[in-house]
Amino acid sequence: LLMEQFTGMDQLEKQLAALFNIERCLIVSGNSDEQEKVIGEFGELVDEALQRQLPDGRNIIAVMGGTTMAEVARHVSPLETAKRHNLFVPARGGIGEAVSIQANSVSALMAANAHGEHRALYVPEQLSEEAYHTLLKEPSIRSVLAMIKEANCVVHSIGRAVHMAARRKMSEEEIVRLKQKNAVAESFGYFFDEHGAIVHKVPRIGLSLEDIQKMPTVLAVAGGKSKVKAITAYMKNAPKQTWLITDEAAANEILKGT
Ligand code: F6P
Repeated sequence: LLMEQFTGMDQLEKQLAALFNIERCLIVSGNSDEQEKVIGEFGELVDEALQRQLPDGRNIIAVMGGTTMAEVARHVSPLETAKRHNLFVPARGGIGEAVSIQANSVSALMAANAHGEHRALYVPEQLSEEAYHTLLKEPSIRSVLAMIKEANCVVHSIGRAVHMAARRKMSEEEIVRLKQKNAVAESFGYFFDEHGAIVHKVPRIGLSLEDIQKMPTVLAVAGGKSKVKAITAYMKNAPKQTWLITDEAAANEILKGT
């Protein structure tokens, strides 16, 4: 029976990876909307993926924030070896969300659990155009930013557009505009409609979507029925080397809609 279950999941993983035209898909049984432990299992898969994927030498791992990533970070285990050294950085400025789920905190926790190094990026999530350009000139920000741009790995989540806009306290008008543009997904500060087209960009400091196109290791972690639209939309144009780590509830629902 166990073998059959394994094979069943294996099939589902292959189907989903083929549907999104990405390198790999890993599916945890259950529904992360209802079972917290499923997110812990995402974390264990992220840990395994990092253990296998990160090459010897110096790695820079860029990490996004959010509740999923905060839980994932708790499950990372030591990644250092005599030959492999890892530096963790927040993928983007994320001050503005609750402290425990900011990219700075999540990447710091991952670094501690991985026995790696960490650099923080002290910039707010929402920035005026003017402040953005001023901060870019700040030496302490520039040096961390240069490291972020050299990252060879990124671990991120995918969120629901309107939910994320509200969580980041975007204005009513901005939220109305997002709804008019049919935004359903958010990742890296970009909002996407159901076709995977970018409909809004938040001016933020850090990784851009262009930066991740050529990054060797891209791990996307998101599950739960509630995120089906968001995952489907974002994955339409995700980089081909992406590994999607999700759950059975999301996977079944996504494949049902095809
Ligand atoms: O704000 C950081 C972020 O990673 C977003 O890019 C993403 O949409 C969101 O968090 C996911 O948050 P959660 O895991 O709480 O759904």
